[in-house]
Amino acid sequence: MTRALSHCHNTIVAACGFLSVYRGFIAIALIFSAATVSAADINAGKQKVQQECASCHQPSDWEGETEASLSSLMKDIVRGKVNHHKKQLTLSDQDIENIAAYWVSSSNKKK
Ligand code: HEC
Repeated sequence: MTRALSHCHNTIVAACGFLSVYRGFIAIALIFSAATVSAADINAGKQKVQQECASCHQPSDWEGETEASLSSLMKDIVRGKVNHHKKQLTLSDQDIENIAAYWVSSSNKKK
């Protein structure tokens, strides 16, 4: 700590004080952005589905499923518990949340 601040000469102590307050804000901002990343992102889910799933699946395939039931189906596939059309899926937990949110929201819209 002393070492890190050793470049703070008396003349610019005010500026250094400001900088550490600023660093505090950055830390808080990082905490908040980490929290946002863990919330389901429907647009990211849509993108992933368009790239990897839309050739075989439509949102209407999932009518009656909830985000939770779809997520757990996907998790079972990723873990190899459910055989998925001979095509192993590699999805992060975040991908799964995003995809479930997208599929459930668009299958409900179409009803
Ligand atoms: C090549 C075609 C194909 C692609 C691409 C594909 N799927 Fe599937 N998927 C299937 C078929 C066929 C089934 C149903 C029969 C089966 O499970 O083998 C299925 C079933 C599922 C199920 C239900 C499993 C169950 O037990 O009811 C989920 C969930 C699923 N897919 C998710 C995905 C996701 C997420 C993606 C993209 C990351 C994806 N699939 C991409 C063909 C595909």
